[in-house]
Amino acid sequence: MSLLPETAAVDSAGRLSVGGVDLLELAERHGTPLFVYDEAHLRARCAEAVAAFGDGVAYATKAFLCKAMARLAHEEGMCLDVATGGELEVALAAGVPASRLVLHGNNKSERELGRALEVGMGRIVVDSFDEIALVGRLTEERARGARPKVLLRVTPGVEAHTHEFVRTGQEDTKFGFSVASGAAARAVAALELMGGVELVGVHAHIGSQVFDAESFESAAEVLGGFAAPLGLPELVVGGGLGVAYVQGEHAPTISEWAGATRAALAKVGLPVGTRVTAEPGRAIVASAAITLYRVGTIKELPGIRTYVAVDGGMSDNPRPVLYGSGYEAFLPREATAPRPRTVRIVGKHCETGDVVVDEAHVPADLTGGDVLATPVTGAYGYSMASNYNKVPRPPVVFVQGGVERVVVRGETVDDLLRLDA
Ligand code: LLP
Repeated sequence: MSLLPETAAVDSAGRLSVGGVDLLELAERHGTPLFVYDEAHLRARCAEAVAAFGDGVAYATKAFLCKAMARLAHEEGMCLDVATGGELEVALAAGVPASRLVLHGNNKSERELGRALEVGMGRIVVDSFDEIALVGRLTEERARGARPKVLLRVTPGVEAHTHEFVRTGQEDTKFGFSVASGAAARAVAALELMGGVELVGVHAHIGSQVFDAESFESAAEVLGGFAAPLGLPELVVGGGLGVAYVQGEHAPTISEWAGATRAALAKVGLPVGTRVTAEPGRAIVASAAITLYRVGTIKELPGIRTYVAVDGGMSDNPRPVLYGSGYEAFLPREATAPRPRTVRIVGKHCETGDVVVDEAHVPADLTGGDVLATPVTGAYGYSMASNYNKVPRPPVVFVQGGVERVVVRGETVDDLLRLDA
């Protein structure tokens, strides 16, 4: 139950509901696969982030973005971190004011930067010397506009304990300016000479799905140590707070993360009054959602294992094949039933790596036609979904107070053909 969204409840017959909506009925009405987000849970995490970090804390939209999500995070008082022109346009289309947006990216195009300047982006996080030159040229050309506020992304030289694909704080990285090599100090000097921008602070992001407070503390120490003498008004510690995906895992809360970060920054003498914020993505949305699948074929290979195939897979959740990520699985019809059987849950794609749960514990009576749920699929599932094998991307529903609303409709065959000439 600790992996389920906050409003998850099991009735006397063992059936699971979220947001007061029965999951099996949801699967009937909308089909499977289906992403189900608990709206109350999303709002609670946003509110927790705002309470913990204060104004300026941004939701990292790459974790999950659609207009409803952008609006929700904005309504709850968060800024939004966008990393591409596409994310920027979705946030604007949702009605989020540009002043509440932060633009990231290690290779922002001239077009993306131009658009950011045109709409009056809240912050632009500068990532390379080439970009400093480009921003300099674009702001000179625009001479009359307000001076954009920029943050400098630095790499603290910390190897966060997480999968190497999502580690970003080490020296050997495509992101930011190294503190140790002196590049970060040279970038500060360059930005301070530029009349067209206002350097307001430094930023670092050490990686994603980080559990241990030590990685965050060491990064905060380097970042704080670098920032303190600059006397800039803002400091952003990035995102990266991990979440529990499987039973037995425990992650710090957003509030604990904020507390540890502040303590580490105080230790290195960051001036009191510096606006310290963060940009969590996963910690806001991951455990707010579950994915519903329908079980199709079951193949028992004597002496080897049992394969249980569902109607989605790596197209709606590429995390197992990309990072070897683990998930749990259960049956919403009997949510708390013992799960004595071990099976491999696979998708419907044409490759062996198409695994949903490598070693899933499931109830003994799991059978073809069952609706099967995987919890903690709210982050980097839908946002990294694809149309591989021309599988349409599933719909996304938000549930709250006994009501569901479709926030992203499921794709149809027409959608699959839409771009064909
Ligand atoms: N800020 C920056 C600059 C980032 O690059 C990221 C994530 C975040 C914030 C938010 O990090 P979070 O709080 O969500 O950990 N696809 C991978 C995760 C990639 C994260 C990329 N950057 C996964 O599924 O695990």
